[in-house]
Amino acid sequence: MEELTMVLNMILVVLLSISLQAFSQERYDDLRIDCGASHRTPIGNPDGRVVSWLTDENFTYSGENQLLRYSQNFSTMNSLRYFPDGQKNCYFLPLYLSSSSPSGIKFLLRAGFYYGNYDGLSKPPSFNLEIDGNFWATVTTNSTSNNEPVYHEMIYWIEKGSAQVCLERIGDGIPFISSLEATVMFGDKMYRLMENKTALLLHSRINYGANNTIEQLIHDLDEYNRIWKSKEMPEYLNVVDERIVDNTMSGENYPPWPVMQTAIQAKNVSDSIYLSVNFSTQTTAVAYFVLYFRDPISRYPENSIAQVEIFINSQKLGATDVPPYYRTIITGMFHAVSLYPVQVNGSANVTISPAENSTLPPLLNAMEVFSVVNMPHASKAGYLPNHFVASLFTFLHLLAIIVFGH
Ligand SMILES: *[C@@H]1O[C@H](CO)[C@@H](O)[C@H](O)[C@H]1NC(C)=O
Ligand SMILES: *[C@@H]1O[C@H](CO)[C@@H](O)[C@H](O)[C@H]1NC(C)=O
Ligand SMILES: *[C@@H]1O[C@H](CO)[C@@H](O)[C@H](O)[C@H]1NC(C)=O
Ligand SMILES: *[C@@H]1O[C@H](CO)[C@@H](O)[C@H](O)[C@H]1NC(C)=O
Ligand SMILES: *[C@@H]1O[C@H](CO)[C@@H](O)[C@H](O)[C@H]1NC(C)=O
Ligand SMILES: *[C@@H]1O[C@H](CO)[C@@H](O)[C@H](O)[C@H]1NC(C)=O
Ligand SMILES: *[C@@H]1O[C@H](CO)[C@@H](O)[C@H](O)[C@H]1NC(C)=O
Ligand SMILES: *[C@@H]1O[C@H](CO)[C@@H](O)[C@H](O)[C@H]1NC(C)=O
Ligand SMILES: *[C@@H]1O[C@H](CO)[C@@H](O)[C@H](O)[C@H]1NC(C)=O
Ligand SMILES: *[C@@H]1O[C@H](CO)[C@@H](O)[C@H](O)[C@H]1NC(C)=O
Repeated sequence: MEELTMVLNMILVVLLSISLQAFSQERYDDLRIDCGASHRTPIGNPDGRVVSWLTDENFTYSGENQLLRYSQNFSTMNSLRYFPDGQKNCYFLPLYLSSSSPSGIKFLLRAGFYYGNYDGLSKPPSFNLEIDGNFWATVTTNSTSNNEPVYHEMIYWIEKGSAQVCLERIGDGIPFISSLEATVMFGDKMYRLMENKTALLLHSRINYGANNTIEQLIHDLDEYNRIWKSKEMPEYLNVVDERIVDNTMSGENYPPWPVMQTAIQAKNVSDSIYLSVNFSTQTTAVAYFVLYFRDPISRYPENSIAQVEIFINSQKLGATDVPPYYRTIITGMFHAVSLYPVQVNGSANVTISPAENSTLPPLLNAMEVFSVVNMPHASKAGYLPNHFVASLFTFLHLLAIIVFGH
């Protein structure tokens, strides 16, 4: 017994170092995986930068590739990988590693799912998404209204330069995945309240007053690969700064310029803006709100005052002045108000009201809503197994179970 343990241990050590060598060269700070694709898809952006979607050959070792029968608008959604075998199947992501920040680096992680009836069964499955052994989300692919992909996104600490994203069966549905993205978020002004084994699960990120959703597939306007969903609201004025600026605002969370060039504005100085946020679960959760303010148009006579107060479920949680147009056009100035922690249960009412002395109606450019979740387990892997090694690991693991019973 003793000898066998020693031999197995030695084999493991050797395999570890082999896999370390095999995979230490390439680490990504901006990784886009087009799951199930047979070749790399470069997507050119207006600024000439090419975002390359890689195939998944180096990142997972199980499952089958499938092309959808008909192609549609989301090019990376035209292929997927499905996993007919096993309870759990994983992707291994080799990510940027910094020795100067041992506690980890924030990444935006996004998994995309587009069923497209690839199996001809018209039975969109449900399954669980996991990261580093932490529950991430239950993916339900039957709710795709408007034929859109389902995305799950979060901001997460990458601790040891790697993450393991797994799909786990929860019923008879076969898990699949269409895209997987990981983008580094450098900078201490990024979503700074996130710490201590938590992650921010994205609930919504809305660009008010806009009629064009900003996303990487089409534009390359957001350095951090965020999708800002456009939303015009007829009950408010939808105001637009018509200038064309392709840049990032410098300051809290670095929103792209175009996001700050549109807003909804109340029609009357004394009116408020009322928004409702519906969370998917009818249980209590801790939410993290970020609201962005900057006047996209010149509506300023001398000495006017633009100040807003922010209420969530009738509780005043924040206040700010709205930087006027003339002060923001050169400097890219804006104000972001982060509200955390906010206890919510099922839904939340957000009200943007004019402050007592404000002489201009309240406005809002954008709002992000996250829920804060615990992610107690860190990535175990400082290495990534390659295919051969992965199979051997599985074999040795099984052997160990058979021989030692654990
Ligand atoms: C997979 O890894 C090999 C070896 O590092 C590399 O040559 C190849 O380009 C990689 N493929 C993809 C799709 O990244
Ligand atoms: C694809 O885009 C076109 C034009 O933008 C739109 O008319 C069509 O409905 C879209 N198709 C799908 C499947 O979303
Ligand atoms: C989707 O599937 C889930 C779980 O399988 C179920 O609870 C839900 O009602 C379904 N939704 C729709 C719109 O069919
Ligand atoms: C994170 O942990 C540190 C030390 O354990 C503690 O001082 C800090 O308050 C914690 N922060 C949050 C947001 O829980
Ligand atoms: C969308 O907004 C742009 C300006 O941001 C405007 O030129 C265009 O006409 C708008 N399109 C629609 C359909 O409203
Ligand atoms: C603005 O609100 C005030 C007070 O509620 C009201 O008297 C006034 O008629 C409103 N003006 C417009 C243009 O709606
Ligand atoms: C939230 O739910 C309420 C009541 O069901 C509905 O009126 C509102 O439009 C929903 N809001 C969003 C943003 O979906
Ligand atoms: C939000 O406002 C609606 C309508 O005023 C109310 O029915 C609902 O209870 C409010 N929700 C919360 C969480 O306060
Ligand atoms: C949350 O809302 C649900 C449904 O409205 C209710 O049953 C539950 O008691 C609420 N929980 C708390 C802690 O308020
Ligand atoms: C509003 O203006 C009055 C008179 O100038 C001043 O006393 C008060 O402090 C102001 N209130 C706020 C919230 O700034």
